[in-house]
Amino acid sequence: MPSHPDLDKTIFLDTVDSTNLELKRRRDEFQDTNVLLVSDAQSQGKGQKGRRWESAAGLGLWMSLYLGRKSSLTHNLQLLSIYTGLVVHEIISPLIKRPVYLKWPNDIMIHSKKCGGILTELQWQGDAIMSAVMGIGINLSHEIEDFTLSIQNQATSLKLEGLDSPDRASLIDAFVYSFLGNLSFLDSSQELATKWNQKAYHMNELVQWESPQGIFEGHFCGINNKGDALVNIDGNLQVFQTGEIRLAEMI
Ligand code: BTN
Repeated sequence: MPSHPDLDKTIFLDTVDSTNLELKRRRDEFQDTNVLLVSDAQSQGKGQKGRRWESAAGLGLWMSLYLGRKSSLTHNLQLLSIYTGLVVHEIISPLIKRPVYLKWPNDIMIHSKKCGGILTELQWQGDAIMSAVMGIGINLSHEIEDFTLSIQNQATSLKLEGLDSPDRASLIDAFVYSFLGNLSFLDSSQELATKWNQKAYHMNELVQWESPQGIFEGHFCGINNKGDALVNIDGNLQVFQTGEIRLAEMI
């Protein structure tokens, strides 16, 4: 059971539709508290952009942290997702020989494959954030055939990356300790962005940027202190708040 002075409650479930959804449904119950919810399986795991997140029992760490304490919400929450990615990076990379990268906005990559993702959802009242839910999915014990065929060439797990028996409990402890223990780092946005940029996937590489405004090609230059992506397109540094990054096809 993870313990931290800023964590009020931890709930373990066998199965749930989505740990993010469950925490949001029980928001009234968790008012002014910080709650961690871990589920062995999710029947409707949610990814970014409404995608499905494969969350079979016994294969991964599927958890969400609900931040409801006023003291936790007083920090600058603009970089909450970026910060969560850094914390996941910090707990995973010592376990793996290959380099771990962060792909904008918050994919956890090992070499060129995705090992985890983060889904942050903020609950607003007017222009105030009342609570935040950070959903974290980390593939732990998958063999390649445990992934759906269509993602087998894009996905990986800690086991596939050489970690024989990933220990879910110690990853949970490490996450809670680091996440809640360093929350004030959110207020050092430039330092946070610099740290993220040191671990950025495709940094300074030629990428295709797929955004609602169209597809652009340029060099990825990391993030600014608001967490926006910076892409150098024909000598102009463009700022993107949404979109997706892809390595440009080399001719
Ligand atoms: C992504 O698309 O990269 C984000 C994936 C986030 C998955 C996690 S698993 C725990 C939590 N509950 C969900 O339904 N999604 C997040």
